[in-house]
Amino acid sequence: MEVGQQVYGANGCSGCHTQVVRPANMGSDIARGWGSRRTFPVDYYHETNPFLGIVRIGPDLSNIGKRKKDTSWFYILLYEPNQIFPGTIMPPYKYLFRKVRAEGKRNPEALPPELDRTLPKGMQIMPSPEAVALVAYLLSLDRSYPTQPKKQ
Ligand code: HEC
Repeated sequence: MEVGQQVYGANGCSGCHTQVVRPANMGSDIARGWGSRRTFPVDYYHETNPFLGIVRIGPDLSNIGKRKKDTSWFYILLYEPNQIFPGTIMPPYKYLFRKVRAEGKRNPEALPPELDRTLPKGMQIMPSPEAVALVAYLLSLDRSYPTQPKKQ
């Protein structure tokens, strides 16, 4: 299993998020924009531990990497979900970030400093290697490729 997927599992993301898009006649997943097609077993063929999930408290993430492509959006979501979805029950994952001294200019990967009102001057909020791997994993989630060969 790749690191990002391990971080996803270790943090219980699949306790609230599925990675299964139901067929159009079995719910509104496709109508909600969670996928352009249903998912098939072959979608998980290369994964040792696919996180299908059993409970869906938040949106399905089968295709989140196709829906959202902005790395900093994911970092802000993980650091403080309320910034993106006010009032959400998604918990913050602040421990996946570190306060580090800014060496000269602000690092382009650093989070907006306003997110931490107690941030000392000269420090910045940086994603940890786990957060970087997790966001890379989320960005890789795109199950929109065709599963059937085109008819001749
Ligand atoms: C307690 C349940 C819960 C847990 C645990 C949880 N989330 Fe969420 N998540 C939500 C909810 C609910 C939303 C939808 C936001 C809203 O409207 O409240 C959401 C939204 C999201 C979105 C945006 C989806 C979209 O379609 O825009 C992503 C990405 C996401 N979560 C990733 C994660 C990751 C990664 C983890 C683990 C580190 C995680 N979530 C853990 C409940 C959860």
